[in-house]
Amino acid sequence: MARKPLMAGNWKMNKTIGEAVVLAQDISNQYDDRWDACDVVVCPPFVDLKPAKTVFEFDRVPVGVGAQNVYWEEKGAFTGEISVPMLKEIGCEWCIIGHSERRGYFGETNEDVNKKAKALLSAGIHPIICVGESLAVRDAGDALEFVCAQVRAAFAGIDAAQANECVVAYEPIWAIGTGRTATPEQAQEVCSAIRATLSELYGAEVSDAIRVLYGGSMNPGNVEMLIAQPDIDGGLIGGAALEASSFVQLIKACI
Ligand code: 13P
Repeated sequence: MARKPLMAGNWKMNKTIGEAVVLAQDISNQYDDRWDACDVVVCPPFVDLKPAKTVFEFDRVPVGVGAQNVYWEEKGAFTGEISVPMLKEIGCEWCIIGHSERRGYFGETNEDVNKKAKALLSAGIHPIICVGESLAVRDAGDALEFVCAQVRAAFAGIDAAQANECVVAYEPIWAIGTGRTATPEQAQEVCSAIRATLSELYGAEVSDAIRVLYGGSMNPGNVEMLIAQPDIDGGLIGGAALEASSFVQLIKACI
């Protein structure tokens, strides 16, 4: 089954509101209708979500906006957290969850990721569920087992119709921000195992429809080889998404 590619930029903790508006505007200025063959999403810091969304809405360009994290409770005494209804009101259609930086620096667990996924799905926001192994796990030969266990945990209790609304991003930790990209074969091997796990959970029809992205030092020089792999449906981009010129090159590689 043909899956529509998805290019998502994860801006991480970069760009003040002013800088975010400039970058969103730069991306918007380069839009042409061939992009419609690819879903394009940017995931700025929380404070930049509304300003970035406003740029794309004003220009009427189909670039979606996503958050980088969310909390599963609707409201209340959870100082510093942001809820699903808050994202919904901004017009967020996407939300990254379980990024390795959140798992590593902020102690996010598989159980948290699962709760976040369910909260997002109940509001119709697409979770972009990140999974990926450390170098130690890879060197021990356990990458596939580790990543597939993360997938099973993230999807626990989620039914097939909801699973269809999710995206999985395979981001090997050793490839993030290091300039050391997974080879296309390494990335394909894990993305294919992710799809096989989804197939075990939901059957072939659903697993064939779910997009699996690769992330980790993806750039205009390696994008073609990566997205040429049968189970890689696009990218979750860090560094190369911080400049419109490189992000747009990545989008163009998908269309
Ligand atoms: P880089 O593209 O900077 O390696 O970051 C990847 C990433 O973590 C996207 O979520």
